[in-house]
Amino acid sequence: MHPAIEVPFTDLSAMAREVWPDIEQTYIEALLSARYVGGPAVARFEENFARYCEATHAVGVANGTDALQLTLQALGLGPGDEVIVPSNTFIATAAAVVRAGAVPAFVDVDPGSLLITPAILAAAITPRTSAVIVVHLYGNMPDMDGLVAVAERAGIALVEDAAQAHGAEWRDSRAGSFGAAACFSFYPGKNLGAFGDAGAVVTNDPKIAERVRSLANHGRDGGANHYEHSFVGTNSRLDALQAIALDAKLARNEDWTEARISLADRYRKELAGSAIRLTEVDPLARHVYHLMVVRVADRAAIQQKLQENGIQTGVHYPVPCHLQPPLRQYASGPLPVCEQAATEQFSLPLFPHMSRAQVDRVCEVLDEAGVSR
Ligand SMILES: Cc1ncc(COP(=O)(O)O)c(C=O)c1O
Repeated sequence: MHPAIEVPFTDLSAMAREVWPDIEQTYIEALLSARYVGGPAVARFEENFARYCEATHAVGVANGTDALQLTLQALGLGPGDEVIVPSNTFIATAAAVVRAGAVPAFVDVDPGSLLITPAILAAAITPRTSAVIVVHLYGNMPDMDGLVAVAERAGIALVEDAAQAHGAEWRDSRAGSFGAAACFSFYPGKNLGAFGDAGAVVTNDPKIAERVRSLANHGRDGGANHYEHSFVGTNSRLDALQAIALDAKLARNEDWTEARISLADRYRKELAGSAIRLTEVDPLARHVYHLMVVRVADRAAIQQKLQENGIQTGVHYPVPCHLQPPLRQYASGPLPVCEQAATEQFSLPLFPHMSRAQVDRVCEVLDEAGVSR
């Protein structure tokens, strides 16, 4: 028994405390240098993050939603284009499609992993399909060999939504190295999180990188004249202070990811054979556990019991995209796996500085609630 142990859902300040000694001096220098937007700190982080993702280019932007929208625009997608989107995702995946002027075509997900599969993608492609957004939800990755093959055969672009999947892998290759481009969020709660909003587009295609960079900087082409614009873009640039924090955190991301994986393994071992349903992970995938999502029939009661014992949980996500009021107009019918998962899934606490005793305490309370074994 560990009656005194309380378990927060996450602990972002522990990460901040760990990196602060590394960045304090650099922060002061950056503030005094007055290079607040873009500049050498951003260039350094972009280079390091591209390398981390095993890709050749990374372009820092303001957030993950912009990363998705700017990528679709850089691919030339807009009105008349349909983009296949798994409905079990955060609304930003689909909202970016709408904001780019294209139409989301929602598909269901695999009942085990809750991710898109090659068969689901193949069945959904129509003559109007221009692209698919493969979402590495929770930090897990689907069969990328199969998905890339289906997309290539159909001649459609594959974009990775890797907002939750920094460092995730499929067959030893990193998230960010498979599609035409991959879109990352550095929202503070993400595995690699800034001290505010930030994001990046990662790609091996220099033309896409250049186009995203220009779109994110008012359509400037990087030429000599600051006030000459090749086309209408937006302002979605990465700030130097965020890049400095991200660079320091990136250096620790493998350690933090290994900590997440080891805690998740402990949960999996403790909860195996219980009434709690764990999401399936393909042996070829490296799941980086942004979220420890599980499913139960009586979610509200279980969350309440955990809450009463000082254990915080979350729900990712309670409403699938095709049932969100502003997106219902794009739904073409029921998506039973997504709809069922939305009523059952919830996220247990999981963060790099979590202790094993905290994992054990969560499992103990789940046991008391009658869902473990
Ligand atoms: C799967 C997914 N896609 C896109 C986003 C959007 O990222 P951001 O919040 O940085 O705009 C998020 C994060 O919130 C996400 O979880």
